[in-house]
Amino acid sequence: MTHDTPKTMGQQFGRRSWAEPWKIKMVERLRMTTREERQRALSEAGFNTFLLRSDDVYIDLLTDSGTNAMSDEQWAGMMLGDEAYAGSRNFYHLEEALRKYYGYKYVVPTHQGRGAEHLISQVAIKAGQYVPGNMYFTTTRLHQELAGGIFVDVIVDHAHDPDSLHPFKGNIDVGKLEALIKRESAAQIAYVSLAGTVNMAGGQPVSMANVKELRALCDKHAIKLYLDATRMVENAFFIQEREEGYAKKPIADILKEFCGYTDGAWMSAKKDNLVNIGGWLAVNDWTLFEELRNLVVVYEGLHTYGGLAGRDMEAMAIGIAESVEDAHIRSRIGQVRYLGELLTDWGIPIVQPVGGHAIFLNAKAFYPQLKQIEFPAQTLAAELYLDSGIRSMERGIASAGRDAKTGDHYYPKLELTRLTIPRRVYTQAHMDVVAESVKAIFDMRGTTRGLKMIYEPKYLRFFQARFERLGA
Ligand SMILES: Cc1ncc(COP(=O)(O)O)c(C=O)c1O
Repeated sequence: MTHDTPKTMGQQFGRRSWAEPWKIKMVERLRMTTREERQRALSEAGFNTFLLRSDDVYIDLLTDSGTNAMSDEQWAGMMLGDEAYAGSRNFYHLEEALRKYYGYKYVVPTHQGRGAEHLISQVAIKAGQYVPGNMYFTTTRLHQELAGGIFVDVIVDHAHDPDSLHPFKGNIDVGKLEALIKRESAAQIAYVSLAGTVNMAGGQPVSMANVKELRALCDKHAIKLYLDATRMVENAFFIQEREEGYAKKPIADILKEFCGYTDGAWMSAKKDNLVNIGGWLAVNDWTLFEELRNLVVVYEGLHTYGGLAGRDMEAMAIGIAESVEDAHIRSRIGQVRYLGELLTDWGIPIVQPVGGHAIFLNAKAFYPQLKQIEFPAQTLAAELYLDSGIRSMERGIASAGRDAKTGDHYYPKLELTRLTIPRRVYTQAHMDVVAESVKAIFDMRGTTRGLKMIYEPKYLRFFQARFERLGA
């Protein structure tokens, strides 16, 4: 048998390889399943990957949320939990880390991101006000709407085009924002809701130039600018890589500079901050902080623990410092990119350029024979699971939900299946297995049938909806 000279990962793409800046000390064994077992599990789950048992999953790319592998130092930190009801020393460590790396003055811990979204939405939005943002995130928009806000998408048009190679597809279109302010008046804008790397657009970053411009516009009209900092460290990597003047700046400095242009931030620490649970809200304005600190007591817990154990806050404080190391973020995004490069080379339609935390398969292009109401992205997630036990998630019509006024489905331009890579969890060999499985279902795409929704919950339906195979 003849074969080509084997190549390392780097050589395949004409460069030197990178490797993870850590070694593995403990492993978690995985169960391999047969196709028949997966068929049964998927039917029981109503073709919704959120309803699968994790024991039935081989490689879990459902989310990068709370799925991080913590370091030995974070685990050691867990043993230093000060479980006092009030004034835990771990809260002060967290506060110190946030001031040092994100630069905000006042900190409110929350149990996770949506706890923080709830608080800021309740305090900063008056019923009927507009909340312009760079595309939406499911929980963020829902909390804004529950507080009486009207979300308006002001992201650049490139974000809606899965093939556009614009380097900062997460940017806000300042012209669209200005037009909204002109039309509705500045007093009618609750705040500008800016997310660092836009999840729903494929993990696309926001440039430093864009946040500076937004700051100037917000100052002109006395509007607040709040940041969803959930993946802001990953955003800083793209600024370092793509924006003039930042190539030599450490990630930590870029992060702090970016945050410095905003008035505050909320965070799902289950992503960038390298923990399994946690979140925070941080602002610079004392009066706002006082309100938030008061409200957190009602919904989360006292303002020095916000629904978290002391040990969780300690792990978070350590995770924040680890997350801004250049070697960490380079290997984290390098792994995502490796998977993206394989799929791109094989002609599989994915959102370009590859973002920070996930590969987004373009399900509309994958299954051109399916109408959007036949849930192409949900179908793709089901097929991938059946083929190899890999769990992904839908980011298309099911996630988009319905228009609260008309009751109609939203039909988002992007119909995507997300392969989300947990931080520090899987190896390159896992990525190879994923790529080959995607290729296998791509090769048989012509015979794939879509789905119909047979159960639809009222809120965030994609989590619990059930589906049936069409023509079954
Ligand atoms: C951009 C973004 N914001 C907010 C959240 C909500 O955070 P959590 O899941 O911790 O409530 C998420 C979670 O996926 C997210 O991706």
